[in-house]
Amino acid sequence: MRIAILGFGSVGRGIAQIIAEKNLGLTITAIADSKSGCMDSTGIDPLEIIKRKEDTGLCGEKGITAEYIIQNAEYDALVEVTPTNAETAEPSLGYIRLALSEGRHVVTSNKGPIALNYNELKELAEENGICLKFEATVCGAIPIIQTLQYGLAGNRVKKLYGIFNGTCNYILTRMADEKLTYKEALLEARELGYAEADPTYDVEGIDAAIKLVILANTIFGINKRLEDVEITGINSLTSQALELAEEDELTIRLIGEINNEKGTLKVSPRVIPKDHTLVVHDTLNAVTIDTDLAGEITLIGKGAGSIETASAIISDLLFISNCHDRGP
Ligand SMILES: NC(=O)c1ccc[n+]([C@@H]2O[C@H](COP(=O)([O-])OP(=O)(O)OC[C@H]3O[C@@H](n4cnc5c(N)ncnc54)[C@H](OP(=O)(O)O)[C@@H]3O)[C@@H](O)[C@H]2O)c1
Repeated sequence: MRIAILGFGSVGRGIAQIIAEKNLGLTITAIADSKSGCMDSTGIDPLEIIKRKEDTGLCGEKGITAEYIIQNAEYDALVEVTPTNAETAEPSLGYIRLALSEGRHVVTSNKGPIALNYNELKELAEENGICLKFEATVCGAIPIIQTLQYGLAGNRVKKLYGIFNGTCNYILTRMADEKLTYKEALLEARELGYAEADPTYDVEGIDAAIKLVILANTIFGINKRLEDVEITGINSLTSQALELAEEDELTIRLIGEINNEKGTLKVSPRVIPKDHTLVVHDTLNAVTIDTDLAGEITLIGKGAGSIETASAIISDLLFISNCHDRGP
């Protein structure tokens, strides 16, 4: 299967690295970053472009844009891994619409268009008889969407809850284990590259809430927007709260929950026993799915990272190539 990659940052390069190392039947025929692009219908050497990007800051020639690639490159699936814009979803939304209209499959890690415009994009994909896949938008490497759509087919999910934001989990882990203040733990997370320069989305619970909205709309079919989520972040949590919890063998985690029976979405810090399955450490994510047939299932894994997020993208691509191969 031939793929065009839009966005050649952490995730884009992770995908290229995996394709270079593994014989997966995937050929990259085009790549774009914010300022340049390259195309070759016979296949691009992923390692050469990774090196070019590292050496020059560009993946190709200036003047070859993402739009040009969508309309002119030869590819079967577009991999859309440009930055998330949670307010407008652009420019990613426009790229995805264009590729789907051109009859190309789309795989994305971009939360914006899936949280804001899923129904429209799904319809467009269906009209064109192609796939729109987005495993990497929720919990990075954890195959939560695949599990809900296929692994637990026939089950009724009563509730789904867990840790959807690795940055908050890191901060809470460090506050509990090392008795750091919120500010000290946030600073440490920034220094280690776990938190953005502007961590608002993470620490105020918005990133976790967007992931709940994605699951609610794509899997549970309960039409929700960010405004429908009851959100409390960890930004006003004190070390004293964690110390008090500690006295009773408890700790605090930022938990996102979809109650499918009540149709409610909530993100808030919650006090839970220290030996609870969801008390994972550092930047890990963990989700418990409570179902009528299978009972409770908990998935734990890395919610972010170049290769880890690329793993979810590769899995979506191979799903498409196995189920829906368009051939050369
Ligand atoms: N990193 C993770 O662990 C992770 C996990 C889950 C989901 N995600 C999501 O995956 C996406 C990519 O994340 P990332 O960490 O790879 O981001 P990143 O490192 O910031 O890379 C973004 C890439 O997109 C390019 N870009 C920016 N605007 C563009 C445009 N208009 N057209 C084409 N390319 C454009 C950038 O170009 P330049 O190189 O020229 O700046 C850069 O190559 C985001 O939506 C993010 O939320 C990331």
